[in-house]
Amino acid sequence: MRALDGTIVVASHNAGKLRELAELMAPFGIEARSAKDFGLPEPEETGTTFEENAYIKAFAAAKTTGLTALSDDSGLCVDALDGAPGVYTANWAERPDGTRDFMMAMEKTEKALSEKGAVTPADRTGRFVAVICLCYPDGEAEYFRGEAEGTLVWPPRGTDGFGYDPVFLPLGHERTFGEMSASEKHGWKPGHETALSHRARAFQAFARAKLGAA
Ligand code: IMP
Repeated sequence: MRALDGTIVVASHNAGKLRELAELMAPFGIEARSAKDFGLPEPEETGTTFEENAYIKAFAAAKTTGLTALSDDSGLCVDALDGAPGVYTANWAERPDGTRDFMMAMEKTEKALSEKGAVTPADRTGRFVAVICLCYPDGEAEYFRGEAEGTLVWPPRGTDGFGYDPVFLPLGHERTFGEMSASEKHGWKPGHETALSHRARAFQAFARAKLGAA
């Protein structure tokens, strides 16, 4: 496993993800610069797995900047929908004019669930998945995966977070991700046992492997 030093480019244009990754990195004193700082374009995500899409983003940023890059590819996998929207989670929010509308995406998910007759919490299980890819300019990559189990609720609850947070009730909790503060959603600081969110879990695996976190 290669050593990590200096500056990392975070290969994402998604404001919610950038904010969460910056919050998670802050205690480690890494200089995290965003893809936007370098004016990097958003590569097309043509993969069929979270790992493939994470690699496309991280490699594009590492190759262009000559720096180590970190990307996050994530999504919501609903069991009653055979894992959809999965790698197409962001696409479900896309409007014809290219803007994203997550209320519309949550409604689409709810419509698909009600068409399946999925009414009880047991019928509405799923998970958020995040794959962090760390990629070097020569193309070598390492992957760190995190998952958060939960159920889909309707109507949406809470205004914190981003994306599908207001409809995701993490297992063992009474409030949705949209009703949680950032630190509660991450559920992890260095030295704590287990993170809560998929992104914090993936980041925890990354921080333990690469940043010497406990
Ligand atoms: P992508 O990784 O850029 O393909 O986009 C993943 C999509 O999944 C995001 O646009 C969000 O809508 C959704 N998503 C990923 N992580 C979260 C999360 O922590 N909360 C809510 N939605 C999320």
